[in-house]
Amino acid sequence: MTSFKAGLEDIVALRSEICFIDGQKRQLVYRGYDIGELVGKATFEEVVYLLWNGHLPPAAELQRFKEELAAESTLPAELVDFLKSCPKDAEPMAVLRTAVSALGLFDAEAPVQDRDANRRKAARLLAKVPIIVAYNGRLREGKDPVPPKPELSLAANFLYMLRGVEPDQMEEDIFDAALILHADHELNASTFAARVAMSTLSDVYSAITAAIGTLKGPLHGGANEQVMRTLLEIGDVSNVDDWLKAALARKERIMGFGHRVYRTGDPRADYLRRYSQELGEKRGELKWYEMSRRLEQLMLEEKGLHPNVDFYSASTYYMLGIPMELFTPVFAFSRVSGWTAHLLEQFDDNRLIRPRAEYVGPRDLTFVPVDRR
Ligand SMILES: CC(C)(COP(=O)(O)OP(=O)(O)OC[C@H]1O[C@@H](n2cnc3c(N)ncnc32)[C@H](O)[C@@H]1OP(=O)(O)O)[C@@H](O)C(=O)NCCC(=O)NCCS
Repeated sequence: MTSFKAGLEDIVALRSEICFIDGQKRQLVYRGYDIGELVGKATFEEVVYLLWNGHLPPAAELQRFKEELAAESTLPAELVDFLKSCPKDAEPMAVLRTAVSALGLFDAEAPVQDRDANRRKAARLLAKVPIIVAYNGRLREGKDPVPPKPELSLAANFLYMLRGVEPDQMEEDIFDAALILHADHELNASTFAARVAMSTLSDVYSAITAAIGTLKGPLHGGANEQVMRTLLEIGDVSNVDDWLKAALARKERIMGFGHRVYRTGDPRADYLRRYSQELGEKRGELKWYEMSRRLEQLMLEEKGLHPNVDFYSASTYYMLGIPMELFTPVFAFSRVSGWTAHLLEQFDDNRLIRPRAEYVGPRDLTFVPVDRR
């Protein structure tokens, strides 16, 4: 047996053709394409197709894929009733996790384990998860859900359902790019959870439910919401230095910084930094960007830590009018694409994922009856 490594750091647990990360070179590659080749050139839909199929779609295929997603852009009435019945203060990630699990009950193909059925379920989830997130976002603010406009892109449709007005081109482009940047990330914790569930030959809905529950934590996808809470707490760029000094003195973790794999910086943050600035300039609201920049500078000086994907996505999403409680569900909406790509790959060449533990507990104890303990 190989030796124990805390947090499975640097352990290669499986082989995959989907995503490559070079933590030293700040490189993220989807199916052979550096993200710089995709962001601003491809749409999120094209990238999802790429992740699932291993190649970019020819025009007719892309059109068919969009039609498939449009046809799946509905929720069962029972699920809408469920969303309406959720407590207003329920955590949106908990609502999403429960709703995705419930969605499986209304899909006759849920228990069917074959590649085509799993691929259809992936499309269903990709189309329906953003509706769940947007509906929940509105309902928790006491507003009526806005039904989807399936002719829009996934990015534009989500912002439309959430805000009730269609985004302008710049907002759509930035959100679409943010979805691409969050689409996949090799064997991160939630993807690993999804693949473990799939490796038991459970089912796609169970695996995605496990993934959502895993993404929820503040050390993973939950960090983006915490970043925005931090920025709101700091309030002004003039407070950043004192705030950070005090937080580091208390030995707090600063959300949105550090990464298990990227030790020289997260390439996704480079794009999101730009979007945060562009949206700030457009809205005349540069304070979030400026505060973020100062935090970034100080964290590098003080701790040698770089911002990760969650740092600038926080202010970007905030300025797109997304409530911060939905930041992590939005991450999940995008990551459904990568999770399901990994589920398809896992299913194609499955072997039960079952590692070992190094036992460090006591041995050879003798049983003592309860009246003598
Ligand atoms: C992402 C993260 C969980 C990676 O953790 P990891 O690979 O296990 O790294 P470690 O927790 O071992 O951290 C290594 C050192 O850096 C410090 N560190 C790491 N991230 C830090 C942060 N965000 N703020 C302050 N210190 C941090 C740790 O305290 C530790 O210092 P020590 O060796 O003096 O104890 C971690 O960086 C973190 O908690 N970041 C904040 C949450 C976040 O943004 N998550 C989203 C990830 S995309």
